[in-house]
Amino acid sequence: MKLLKRFKNAVGKARLNRAVQKVALSTAASEIGRDDWPRSLTDPTEFYLECVRFFYQKLPQDLRDHRRYFNSNNRGFGEDAFHVMWFLLYREFEFSRFLEIGVYRGQVLSLVSLLQQGDKRVEVVGISPFAPAGDSVSNYTKDVSYYEDTLENFRHFSLPLPTLARAYSTDEIARATIASRQWECIYIDGNHDYEVAKSDWNLCSMNLIRGGIIVLDDSGLDTSFRAPIFATAGHPGPTRVAAEIDRQQFREILQVGHNRVFQKI
Ligand SMILES: C[S@@+](CC[C@H](N)C(=O)[O-])C[C@H]1O[C@@H](n2cnc3c(N)ncnc32)[C@H](O)[C@@H]1O
Repeated sequence: MKLLKRFKNAVGKARLNRAVQKVALSTAASEIGRDDWPRSLTDPTEFYLECVRFFYQKLPQDLRDHRRYFNSNNRGFGEDAFHVMWFLLYREFEFSRFLEIGVYRGQVLSLVSLLQQGDKRVEVVGISPFAPAGDSVSNYTKDVSYYEDTLENFRHFSLPLPTLARAYSTDEIARATIASRQWECIYIDGNHDYEVAKSDWNLCSMNLIRGGIIVLDDSGLDTSFRAPIFATAGHPGPTRVAAEIDRQQFREILQVGHNRVFQKI
């Protein structure tokens, strides 16, 4: 039974890989500049495919290797195009105070650290239970020591170790960490249930510099993004949070698949 399941998984993965490769090499990738970002909001599906092509044809090799590492052995979620999104965001904002809610095994936290290498003063902070804590739409394996594993993944890339708060984002200690400074970039990707995602948004949006950005994961369900078979459009909770964002305070500046980026006005 286990063998059959493994076989089916392998066949499924190979099918998805073929679909990605078909897009990746379909046409020459173009440069994606800041002026192109508004197109991600009006035609998110085409923009997403551009990001896939950019990943395979233009993204620096060390970032592609980083994605390959996390994409193997179930070390990470996400999609190739998201590495392009972080590359574009960092190139534009060069944020030096970064917070991630929902770390899993450290893919995005270490990617930001990799992007920041060479900078003088950088803070990379993660809040997560470092346990297989799921929600109404997610389950995580019990076979991983999440905290140790995250640090090990940083060591693998010879990156300075991050600051990790082992807590749920709604715990007092996590709330105090979020409120402890004015962040330049926050990535919300913890519990996907509406009440928790909303509470994360409320606190994070108060503790962000003006001009700072929040990336809200899994919030693309009600946009015109039509996910190809190797992508997903998101979940109801974060999508509802995005729909309720006060547009007097935040403007949406970029969408890459189910990730939507909001800048504080
Ligand atoms: C989808 S995974 C995050 C993936 C990660 N952001 C990445 O891109 O590699 C969600 C993570 O959030 C954690 N989590 C669940 N509930 C949480 C909560 N209330 N606060 C913080 N993290 C939570 C889960 O255990 C899991 O590690």
